[in-house]
Amino acid sequence: MLQLSTVDPVKTKLALLVIPVAEDNPLGGDRTLTALIRKVKALKEFKGARDDSLMLYESPKIKADRVLFLGLGKSGEINAERLRSMAGEAVKKAIASGLADIAFFIPPARHLPLDKTQVLTAIAEGARLANHRFDRYKKPTHPPLKRIKMLVSAPAKAGDRALLARIDTVCEGTLTARDWINTTANDKPPAVFAREIKRIALKTGLKVDVYDERWLKKTGLNALLAVAQGSENRPRLMVLRHRPGKGKKPVALIGKGVTFDSGGINLKPSGSIETMKCDMSGAAAVAATLITAARLNLATPLVGVIPMVENMPSGNAIRPGDIVKSWLGKTIEIGNTDAEGRLILIDAMAWAIKKFSPAVTIDMATLTGACVVALGENIAGTFSPDDALADALVQAGRDVHERCWRMPLPDDYKELLKSDFADLNNISATRWGGAITAALFLSEFVKDTRWAHIDIAGPAFLKKGAAYGEAGATGFGVRLICRFLESFKGV
Ligand code: BES
Ligand code: MN
Ligand code: ZN
Repeated sequence: MLQLSTVDPVKTKLALLVIPVAEDNPLGGDRTLTALIRKVKALKEFKGARDDSLMLYESPKIKADRVLFLGLGKSGEINAERLRSMAGEAVKKAIASGLADIAFFIPPARHLPLDKTQVLTAIAEGARLANHRFDRYKKPTHPPLKRIKMLVSAPAKAGDRALLARIDTVCEGTLTARDWINTTANDKPPAVFAREIKRIALKTGLKVDVYDERWLKKTGLNALLAVAQGSENRPRLMVLRHRPGKGKKPVALIGKGVTFDSGGINLKPSGSIETMKCDMSGAAAVAATLITAARLNLATPLVGVIPMVENMPSGNAIRPGDIVKSWLGKTIEIGNTDAEGRLILIDAMAWAIKKFSPAVTIDMATLTGACVVALGENIAGTFSPDDALADALVQAGRDVHERCWRMPLPDDYKELLKSDFADLNNISATRWGGAITAALFLSEFVKDTRWAHIDIAGPAFLKKGAAYGEAGATGFGVRLICRFLESFKGV
C-alpha cells in the first residue's frame, strides 16, 4: 500500500498532494513549490503553525486536483511524532473526501532536527496506521485509501523501498492486533481467538501449537486453570515459534490473553467492565509481533507464549480465599478473583522459561488499573531488574512513540504479597502501588532469567481516537517490540 515515487510533485496528475510546511521555513522543494508555499503563507488563515491546514482545489502551476498544506510549527521543534500525526490527519481527510489515493511530498531533512530515514519513516507510519477502519460490525461511510505515495527526490534508493516495505509490514501487524482487540468477547472465546491467530500465523511460516484444557491439566498449569474454571469457554495455551532450533536462545514474549475480564466473583462494577474485551491486548500484541517477525524474516529466534482464558463468575468459578498450586509449585491464595492476569501469566511464563530457556523474557499485559492511575492512558509501565533491558525498551518506545516509563521493583514491597496460608497472595495488603505489587508478584516466577514486564492497561485501548488511530484498540506493543528486536544487542 505504501509506495515510493520520484515523480515531480508539481507536474504530476495526483488526486491529492500533501505538502508539510513549517512556520519559519517552506521546507524545500523546487522553485514552483516554494513560490506557492510563500503565497499560501501570505494568507491570513495559514501560517504553517501546528494544526494549520489549507486545501486548494485549483492552483495554476500544480497539476494535482487538490493540494493540502499542513502546518508543522517551528522547524527546530518538529519531531517524528509531529510528522506521524500530520500524515495521519491528512489520510483521515482524504478518506473523508472519498478518495482512493494520497501523495505526500517528503520534505528534505536538512531543515529538520531529524535524518532522512526518520522523516520518511514517520510520515509513512502515520499515514499507514491512519488508513484503516475496524469494519467488522458496521460498514464505514468511506473505505480506506488504496494507495499512499511517498514522493521523494530522484534517484530513488533501494534502501528506501525496503524501508517502506518494512513499515508496511509492521503497521499491518499493528492493525491486525487492533482488529483482534476490537472484536467483541462473544466473537473471540479462547478457542476461536487461537484459531484465528493460527490461520494467519501458519501462512507466515511460524510454528504453531495450541494446547487445550486436557493438556493444561496434565501439565499442571493450575493457576491458569483456576481463572478459566468459571467460564463455559474453555482455555487454551498458544505457542508460536519463529526460527525454532537455530542454536541461539530465543527471546520469549508472553501476552496476557483474557478474552473478557468480568472480574469473576469479585465482579467489576459498571463503568469498569464495559471495555474488558480489551484484556487480551498483550496476547494480540505478542501474536502480531511474531507474525510480523516471520514476515520480515528477523534474525532473532522468538517464541510467543499466550495464555487464553475468559474470567467469569459462575457456580464453577474460583472463589476469594481459595488456594491453588501454580505450575512452578508455589501456592497462591486468591485474595481477589479480579487479579487474574498475574495468575495466567506466571504459569505461562514459568513453563515457557523451563521449556525454551529464553535469553530474555518480556511479558505484555493489561495488568492493572493502578498503572493507568500512575502514568495515564498513553504511557506503559515498564518493570525490569535488568538496566540494559529496561533502557532498551524505553529507548525503543521513544523511537516509535509507544512510550514506556521505567517503574521500580522494590524488594521490601514483597512483604505486601504475603499470605497466612499460602506462599503468596495474588493481591497486595494495601491498595497503593498496585502496578508495582503486580509486577513483584510476576517476578516471583521468573527465576534468574532476564525479564521485563510491560503493563499496557493504559495505552492498549483508548476512549478517543487520535491522529493515526480510531477510538478503541491501538495495537500498542507491536511497533515497540519490533523496534526493540532490531536495536537490542544484548542477546
Ligand atoms: N484487566 C484488569 C486491569 C485493567 C484495568 C485493564 C483497566 C485495562 C484497563 C485487571 O485484571 C484487573 O482487574 N486488575 C485489578 C487488580 C486488583 C484486583 C488488585 C485492578 O486493577 O483493579
Ligand atoms: Mn481483572
Ligand atoms: Zn484483567
